[in-house]
Amino acid sequence: MSEASLPFNEKIIPIKTLGEEWERSIRNPHEFWAEKAKALRWMKTWDKVLDDSNPPFYKWFSGGILNICDNALDRHLTTPKKNKLAYIWEGEDGEVRSFTFYQLYREVNKLAKIFKNFGLKKGDRVAVYLPMIPELPITLLATVRLGGIHTVVFSGFSAEALADRINDCQAKILVTADGAYRRGKTVMLKDTADRALANTPTVEKVVVVRRTGQQVSMKEGRDYYYHDLMSKVEANAYVPPEPMEATDPVFILYTSGTTGKPKGVQHGTGGYLVWGYWTLKWGFDPKDEDIWWCTADIGWITGHTYNVYAPLALGVTSFIFEGTPDYPAQDRWWEIIEKHGITILYTTPTAIRMFMRYGEEWVNKHDLSTLRLLGSVGEPINPEAWRWYYKVIGKEKLAIIDTWWQTETGGFMIAPLSGLELVPLKPGSATKPLPGVQADVWDEKGQPSPISTRGFLVIKGPWPGMLQMLWRDPERYKQAYFSRFPNVYYTGDYAIRDPDGYFWLLGRADEVLKVAGHRIGTVELESELVAHPAVSEAAVMGKEDPVKGEVPVAFVVLRSGYSPSDQLRQQLVQHIRSTIGPIATPEAIVMVNKLPKTRSGKIMRRLLKAVLAGAALGDVSTLEDEASVEDIKATYEELRKQLEKK
Ligand code: WTA
Repeated sequence: MSEASLPFNEKIIPIKTLGEEWERSIRNPHEFWAEKAKALRWMKTWDKVLDDSNPPFYKWFSGGILNICDNALDRHLTTPKKNKLAYIWEGEDGEVRSFTFYQLYREVNKLAKIFKNFGLKKGDRVAVYLPMIPELPITLLATVRLGGIHTVVFSGFSAEALADRINDCQAKILVTADGAYRRGKTVMLKDTADRALANTPTVEKVVVVRRTGQQVSMKEGRDYYYHDLMSKVEANAYVPPEPMEATDPVFILYTSGTTGKPKGVQHGTGGYLVWGYWTLKWGFDPKDEDIWWCTADIGWITGHTYNVYAPLALGVTSFIFEGTPDYPAQDRWWEIIEKHGITILYTTPTAIRMFMRYGEEWVNKHDLSTLRLLGSVGEPINPEAWRWYYKVIGKEKLAIIDTWWQTETGGFMIAPLSGLELVPLKPGSATKPLPGVQADVWDEKGQPSPISTRGFLVIKGPWPGMLQMLWRDPERYKQAYFSRFPNVYYTGDYAIRDPDGYFWLLGRADEVLKVAGHRIGTVELESELVAHPAVSEAAVMGKEDPVKGEVPVAFVVLRSGYSPSDQLRQQLVQHIRSTIGPIATPEAIVMVNKLPKTRSGKIMRRLLKAVLAGAALGDVSTLEDEASVEDIKATYEELRKQLEKK
C-alpha cells in the first residue's frame, strides 16, 4: 500500500490549510489564540492572551475568568445539546447507563453541593481513586465547579502510591469505591484506600461509591457512601460555578520522570481548556451525530482531556467503558462498537497489537461500518500495527490520527488534523505539529539535527495547553523541562524529521518506560527495590515486548545473607506491586553478583540494554570488570530458559 493511494487523502477539501493556520499561529499568537478562545464561555475576557514576562512560567489568558464545568455543562443547557447524550457508559458486566448533558449537570450539582457542605473551597484538593464508572467524571466536574483541584490516581496504583500523591498535594477529600470489577473478579479498592488513609492526615472526608457491593469498613464521621449522600440532596440542587482565573490551577496529575517520586503536573484552567477544545476539534472534528470512544482510563491524561473536558466542552457524546478489552471474549470491543454505533475510536498501539495477535476473525464477526475515523496515542505505533489497524479495523477507508503528546502538554501536539487539513498519512509517523506548536529536533548541543537524523524533540515556544509548573515545585519544573536546553521545552523523546517535514516519534530518550502505554519511571522501581532488605543495588531497564512495547526487567544485586531463589524473586515482584502497583510489575528479576559499571562507578545501562536485546555489547573499554557482563548474560540466559518453560 503506498501512501499516495490512501483514499481519504483525496476527499478532504480544506477550508484553511494547516500550513496557513500554523503560520498565523506563530506569527501572531495573541490574535490567533484570542480568536480561538472565543469558542469558550468567559465570565470576563482576558487582559492578555499570553504573559511571557517570566519564562518558563507562562500565563495564558491572564485576567480572564471562566469555569471549566460551566463550559462543559451549563453552557449547553440553552442549546439543543441540552438533551443530547453526554455519556454512554458500559460496565464490565454489560450494564449500560447514559446521561444527557442536562442529567449530568444535575448529578454534578448534587455532588458539588455535598462537597460544599463538606467545606470544600476554591483551591482545595480532591483526590480520586475510582474505576471507570460515571461517578469518576461526575466527581471531577463537581470538584472544578467549586474551584477545587482534582488529582486522579489510576486505580491500578498501590496504597503507597495513593498515599504519596494525597500527601504531596494535601488533599482534603478522597473519592473512591468499595471495589472494582476486573475480568469478572472484584478488586478491593476501599481496602487499598484504607491502607493509604492510615498515613494521609489531610483527608477529612471519604466518599465511597458502591460498585461491587462488597463489605468494606467505613469510618464513622469520615467515610460516607456516595448514594447515601446523593439521596439526601434535593434533585434540583444548584451550586453556581466558581469564577476562576484562567491561570488558576484546574488539576494535578502525577506522572513519572527521570528522578525521584512522580511529578505533580499542574494544568491551568483557561489555557488547558482552549487547548483541549481545539486539539480535539482539529484532530477529529467530532460532530453532533458522532459517538466518540477514547479508550483511555480517566486515571491518565488522555482520559482527562479526551474523555472529560474536551468532548464535553465541544458537546460531543462520549462512550466510556469499565472493562478490559478481551473480557469475557476477544471481541468485546468490536461488539461494543457495533452495539453502540461508535463512530470514532481513539486507542493505543498496545491494544491494536493485542488484537492483531487474537486475529482478525474476532473483528470480522462484527459490523464496524459506523466507524468513520481512527486514532492512536501513548506510544510509537509501529508500521505493522498501523497497517493492521488501517486494514482490519478501518477497512482501508479510514484515516488514522496518530497523536503525539504528553501529560505535560495537555493535549495533542503532533498529529494529522482531519478537522483542518488532512495531510497524506505515512504509517508510523504522527505527521506535523499543530498550530501553535514549534516542534524541532535537536542534537546534544542544541543544534537542529539534520533531516532524517535522530535527535531530541523540543518545543521552542509556549502553547496554551502546556503545564503551568510542577505542584509547589517551581525549581523542579525548570530543572525537568527547561534546563537541558535553556528556555526550550525538553520532551524527553527521540524523534526524526523526514525530508517532507514529517515527525517520526521514536520513544523516550530518558529513563522513562512506556509499558502498554503507561508511563513508568525506572528510577521509581529502582528505589523501591533497594528499599527491600534483600537488595543492595538495582537497575531497571525496558525490554522490548511485541505487545506492550516494552516491559520492565530488574537487575538486582543481593545483600550478603540472601541468595537467589524463585521465592525471593516472587517477593520482589510482590514488593513492587504493593509499593507502586500492578502496572509496574517487572517481567523478570535478574539476580546478579555485580552490575556493570564504568570506572567512575556509573551503571552502564547501555550494556544492560544490549544484554536484554541479546545484541552485541559494543565498546566495553570503560568497564570496570568485564566479567560482570558475562555474569549477567549467563543469569539472563538462565532466566530466559525458565520463562520459556512456563
Ligand atoms: C509517548 C500520553 C509516539 C512519548 C498522552 C511521550 C508517543 C509519552 C505518542 C507521554 C505517539 C505518546 N507516538 N510516542 N503518538 N503519544 N507517546 O505523559 O514517549 O502518559 O513522551 O502521555 O508517551 O506519555 P504520557
